[in-house]
Amino acid sequence: MCGIVAYVGDRDAQEVILKGLFRLEYRGYDSAGVALIDGGKISVRKKEGKLSGLAAMLAREPLKGHIGIGHTRWATHGEPDTPNSHPHTDCSGRIALVHNGIIENYLELRVALLEEGHRFSSQTDSEILAHLIEKYYAGDLLEAVRKAVSDAEGAYAIAVISERNPDEIVVARKSSPLVIGMGEGEYFVASDVPALLEYTNRVIYLNDNEIARLTRGGMSIYDLGMRRVEHTPSTIEWTLEQAEKGGYETFMLKEIYEQPDAFRNVLRGRILPGNNGVNLGMEKIAEETIRSMEKIFIVSCGTACYAGMGGRYLLEYHTDLSVEVDYSSEFRYRNPKLGRNTLVMTVTQSGETADTLASLRMAKEKGCPVVSIVNVVGSTIDRESDGVIHTYAGPEIGVASTKAYTAQLGALVLFTLYVGSVRGQMEEEEIRRVIAELCALPEKIERVLRVEAQVAAIARKYYRAKSAFYLGRGFNYPNALEGALKLKEISYLHAEGYPAGEMKHGPIALIDKEFLVVCLCTKGEKYDKMISSIREAEARGGRIVAIGTEGDRNLKDIAEDVIFVPETLEELSPIINVIPLQLFAYHIARLRGCDIDKPRNLAKSVTVE
Ligand code: F6R
Repeated sequence: MCGIVAYVGDRDAQEVILKGLFRLEYRGYDSAGVALIDGGKISVRKKEGKLSGLAAMLAREPLKGHIGIGHTRWATHGEPDTPNSHPHTDCSGRIALVHNGIIENYLELRVALLEEGHRFSSQTDSEILAHLIEKYYAGDLLEAVRKAVSDAEGAYAIAVISERNPDEIVVARKSSPLVIGMGEGEYFVASDVPALLEYTNRVIYLNDNEIARLTRGGMSIYDLGMRRVEHTPSTIEWTLEQAEKGGYETFMLKEIYEQPDAFRNVLRGRILPGNNGVNLGMEKIAEETIRSMEKIFIVSCGTACYAGMGGRYLLEYHTDLSVEVDYSSEFRYRNPKLGRNTLVMTVTQSGETADTLASLRMAKEKGCPVVSIVNVVGSTIDRESDGVIHTYAGPEIGVASTKAYTAQLGALVLFTLYVGSVRGQMEEEEIRRVIAELCALPEKIERVLRVEAQVAAIARKYYRAKSAFYLGRGFNYPNALEGALKLKEISYLHAEGYPAGEMKHGPIALIDKEFLVVCLCTKGEKYDKMISSIREAEARGGRIVAIGTEGDRNLKDIAEDVIFVPETLEELSPIINVIPLQLFAYHIARLRGCDIDKPRNLAKSVTVE
């Protein structure tokens, strides 16, 4: 999830683009760059690190011109260093491109282009597109871009300039956002509205598989079959602040709604044809290592640790491995029995959490292979792990983790399928069945998000509660912990997650008529046992809010409120069931007047012990 900006018109392109990039810094901030057509030649300036570094460089060595492209990067393929930052150019340096998205078949395309004599300067999937455009270029930039994107599988929003067509920008999109702002004799392009709102509020949103040519004199849009497409401009009524949050009132809410796409990204390019298995691209972890593994320790903190717990249930269900999960802050000071046949897995959004990093280093010192599930590419844990599964969830700005959690669970399902298949413990048919359902999840997550209004109404009934329990069993026990964590961290309402079967061993004593009990009770093997636990809590006067499977009438008789979610495999249900829990915590916090994106006493990344 990167930010792209482009401009053609009479203004100083460098200034427009740089300002736009600053407005998009929340979309990515590990490196940045611009390219302008300056005196008939393409000039590129790019730099790793924050955008302020690029701005300082441009202040020292400014670019002049009225047409250009810019990018602020959130790395997916390749380190966040200067060569990997955008814009990327073709072999001749006469075509420059910025890209947001993921090209799934980039390895295959790269091999073919290398054989044809193209030379690459980066490890990115994006650079492939610059070379493909070069390959197809025969005087018409739009036609070359059209052919290039037709070869690419995956997601892209691109803006391209060429020295040989010095008056035009060509843009195209598929599954990544792209908006065109319309001025008088000028056009602005961006991956997101805030970048252009200072100049215009008349925009058109390019649709998937559309391509457009923009010049001072006008704009023409086509589909990939070169048929003309007409768009009616929309008027943006948002303030700048609203626009940065995509119209949502907080980043947390925006990120909750980004989950269908974040989940698509975690799967992108990793499912083998025919749903026959997964490709995780962990070159440094030999299959033999996976085969000879005897035990896995999953180590992480907070929400990431609850995802790790979910991973334990998945791995134990589908493989013969023994799996232990621990908080990093405990693991690093224990004396766990680690050796060559023990795999240590860390799970982390930031890749910088101090205790998780220390645990990784301890594991490596003891000779264990380390595989990590990481969101921030180029982070310390990303660099120090032997194998990495990136979650590709994009930057998470809200302090409370939401989309990173569901993406981590997705990555853990993929890892389980990989381990199950390499160790010969999952039948092909079973793998196909799980993958088919995994691929159906983004659409199901979209459906769950439609319960927000109902969840908000339920939150209004309970937001004054003093305390809450979250109960779940099996696959959904870690989700109960996560639901309780979300509530306490953003609403400051005391909440505890429990395995439902533990209730009668003490905690049930707390339940009275004031007590809120949130129960994860979707269909599955533990359903009847969950119903018994709900009855026990209800008999003590507890106020029950249940998460249940669509069509389950039974639950309505037992729970005061039921939030229905679509059915899925029980092992995948945490990915669906956590969504109403996030929304519930969100609305309770809102009603309690809390600062949701910046809860008190918390920081986004805990880099000290
Ligand atoms: C809770 C939350 C934290 C993090 C934890 C680990 O909403 O965000 O509990 O999950 O601090 O952080 P990462 O994943 O960056 O290692």
